[in-house]
Amino acid sequence: MQSETGKNYISHLLASALASLKLTPYLDSLDITVPELRFGDYSTNAALVLYRNLAKAIDSHVPGGKKDGVNWAHPVLGILENPRVVALKIIEEIKKNAEQVGRVEMEEKAGFINFTLSQEFLAENMDKILEQGDLYGCSMLGGGKTVVVEYFQNNVAKPPHVGHLRSAVIGDCLLRVLKSQGYKAISDTHIGDWGVQFGILLYAYKTMGDKAVIEKNPIDELNKLYVAMSAKIEADETLREKGKEEFIKLEKGDTQNRELWQWFVNVSLQDFERYRQLLDILPFDHNLGESFYEEHMPAVLQELKAKGLVQKGETGEQYVDLEKYGLGRCILVKSDGGTTYHLRDFACYIYRRKEFNFYKNIYVVDNRQSHHFKQLFKTLELAGYPTPADSEHVEFGFMSLPEGAISTRKGTIISLQNLLDEAQSRALKIIQEKNPELQNKEAIAKLVGLSAIKYFDLSHNRKTEIVFTWDKALSFEGNTGPYLQYTHARINGILRRVQSTGYRTETLNPQPSTLNPLELSVLRKLIKFPEIVEQIAVDFYPNNLCTYLFELSQSFNSFYQEIPVLQETDTAKKAFRLQLITATAQVIRNGLYLLGIEAPEEM
Ligand code: ARG
Repeated sequence: MQSETGKNYISHLLASALASLKLTPYLDSLDITVPELRFGDYSTNAALVLYRNLAKAIDSHVPGGKKDGVNWAHPVLGILENPRVVALKIIEEIKKNAEQVGRVEMEEKAGFINFTLSQEFLAENMDKILEQGDLYGCSMLGGGKTVVVEYFQNNVAKPPHVGHLRSAVIGDCLLRVLKSQGYKAISDTHIGDWGVQFGILLYAYKTMGDKAVIEKNPIDELNKLYVAMSAKIEADETLREKGKEEFIKLEKGDTQNRELWQWFVNVSLQDFERYRQLLDILPFDHNLGESFYEEHMPAVLQELKAKGLVQKGETGEQYVDLEKYGLGRCILVKSDGGTTYHLRDFACYIYRRKEFNFYKNIYVVDNRQSHHFKQLFKTLELAGYPTPADSEHVEFGFMSLPEGAISTRKGTIISLQNLLDEAQSRALKIIQEKNPELQNKEAIAKLVGLSAIKYFDLSHNRKTEIVFTWDKALSFEGNTGPYLQYTHARINGILRRVQSTGYRTETLNPQPSTLNPLELSVLRKLIKFPEIVEQIAVDFYPNNLCTYLFELSQSFNSFYQEIPVLQETDTAKKAFRLQLITATAQVIRNGLYLLGIEAPEEM
């Protein structure tokens, strides 16, 4: 089901014009894009594509009908000298459609058709925003189809690193966006709670662990134990065997090892939940760790074997040969009989397919694992599953942090608590300067600090490597979370002032005659919001929503700088402008919600 966006309206006009011109077979290759504002609201290459196709068709089907692009005639369109003629014909046809009268202006430019929505159209959309409120931007595009979103895949007994932070923030945003577009979005974490490393940890705990110490600060202490044992192993490889033995015991169900492992898992889960709350991301529907797939692995291995995909290596390891796809070997069982991370991912995919019957299954994981996911999807494809079409590795690049305050080890392991505390105290300082009168400074600073961090992450194209800096993230100007929160709070401040005078906008139904270009540019931005969100549910790039919200805030700020609102004496104009800024605040709030960022009323 399509939502009623400006873009849908244009594509509907275009489709019916092409239908009357009997040109529908070419519809699929047409594009409707958003050009630079000076060219209008939307633009299409329809005439260029059609011209190319028609030229081809006439060339082959009408002998002698065409020579070097000159004077060839189409049965419906007549003589077409160039794409511009086709564009003009389409415009003419659209104009016959009574529905568009007064709704959209069209112009041909170098074969493109540019569409500019009328003032009435845009003003109606503003009414729609005010009416729909928090629901503006939602659609039923997903039609209830299931999407599994996997993110924040923490590892038991290890503090999360920046990669986990990014995964949490991006995944949470995608979950919100998918839900808003009518998908049944299911979240899962795929926690790392299985593998030889737990054998090593068990061996470390048994030989040098201290229960009381660990209980005080479980994750850090367990991590220390693991790091210490890894160092010992480096010096004496035979110790690794001890670790492996412990893991085999664990796999076989040894009571003591199971109990210890369960303890490590439980304390870690508590910590993950604490991080989740600190980050203010939505609760997870599932927390199915790698260990969950332990009992599923034999059947999955069997299945892959039955499909003739598994080979035995020189030292007894079992693998899928993907050499001919340039993907090397995908090891399922190691030479010592231990199962792999890969095999657990196969089991996980097959489980999700059966359990959730998903339409799409996405993994928000950093790009260092792209080879892993390529192997996974290729093997599943060979096994007859609908990959890669039904799954996607939503990858992201590394974010480096400034050394010192927010990084503990090598700049890659961060204490989330420290990071957020620092964000809050830096935000507090700025707020104290900007707005010393503000109530609840601490609470607001917390929201601003968190928004700075999340937005910094989300506003960069996820595939790029980024360098985090406090100054950029916390700036109240530019493409930042605090800037958007500030713009939203500023509008609310204006509205509060109006309301305190007893002024009620709802009682007026302003019908302004001609809008100012600055008012128009805000309206024209507002109408694009639903399309931006729709697109993120398809390509998973939240940075496009950030750019959009930033541009919206900029057009609001230019408008507000030049045009009087509170001081306006013409009542219809004043009422209209108040509605315009109310709608702007609403859209910023809706957008921030989708990014997982709160918009305080004041700051
Ligand atoms: N726990 C892994 C890590 O921290 C990421 C898991 C990614 N998800 C997956 N299904 N393999 O590196």
